[in-house]
Amino acid sequence: MSKPIVIQGAMQVEVAVLVSRLSGAVCETAGGWTFWRGLLGGVPVVISRTGMGMSNAAAATAIAIERYAPLAVINQGTAGGHDPQLLPHDLVLGTRVIHLGAFQSPYRAPGAGSDTLAWRPLDLMDQSETADFTLPVPMSFAADPALLAAARRAAYPAGQVVDGVIGSSDVWNNELDRIAHFHARYGTLVEEMEAASVAQVCGQYGVPFLCVRVVSNNIVIGAPHDVATANACQAFVAGLLPLYLPPAPIPALLRPA
Ligand code: 5AD
Repeated sequence: MSKPIVIQGAMQVEVAVLVSRLSGAVCETAGGWTFWRGLLGGVPVVISRTGMGMSNAAAATAIAIERYAPLAVINQGTAGGHDPQLLPHDLVLGTRVIHLGAFQSPYRAPGAGSDTLAWRPLDLMDQSETADFTLPVPMSFAADPALLAAARRAAYPAGQVVDGVIGSSDVWNNELDRIAHFHARYGTLVEEMEAASVAQVCGQYGVPFLCVRVVSNNIVIGAPHDVATANACQAFVAGLLPLYLPPAPIPALLRPA
């Protein structure tokens, strides 16, 4: 069988639709992580329930890449809006995912309080071990162009589909000033808790990556959390698979000896 595409969701409700559509499903576990191998519309896939948060997502991604040598990894699921234009069920194609959980705070004396908006993003991929490895904008990871092109062509009847920046951290933000700061300074359309970690690991292995997120809540406009939005997101990702043409392998005759 040819190499699979890994499709991730953090929670069971974020993978259940995909798992129910698999033919020839085989369930495998490693530690606390579950993977379902099978065919989705004839395409070999591994559906991965990563668990929530950055550490769970990183570990699930590394395990999946080591075990299944996938063609690509698609991280998908629910997210909270940073943009007032986005309604529940709208979809964001992550042209870029950024890490909203790695910062260095400027010095403040005892009693001077905390100002998280003044924190400087940190570059966790920096190899130089310099004292100041802060960045003007957070670490960011670009979507694979071929995966993004496929997503742009896929049908989505449940809402609007927009391109944009997805922000990730182990924090669920409900402070409107902090959300407005991320939106204005870094251009985040939505936030969630896994994608930047997945992208970082995919980058280390050179595996193509895309994040697709459905708006399940948007505190900016007072829209409450509707986890059922996860179903539409999964249907969308299933529909983009046949539109994804991975780079053709180099014919043996043209390969350097
Ligand atoms: N902020 C952070 N994470 C969110 N999620 C959905 N909405 C939000 C939000 N507003 C997703 C995360 C995580 C779980 C809590 O739901 O990715 O998996």
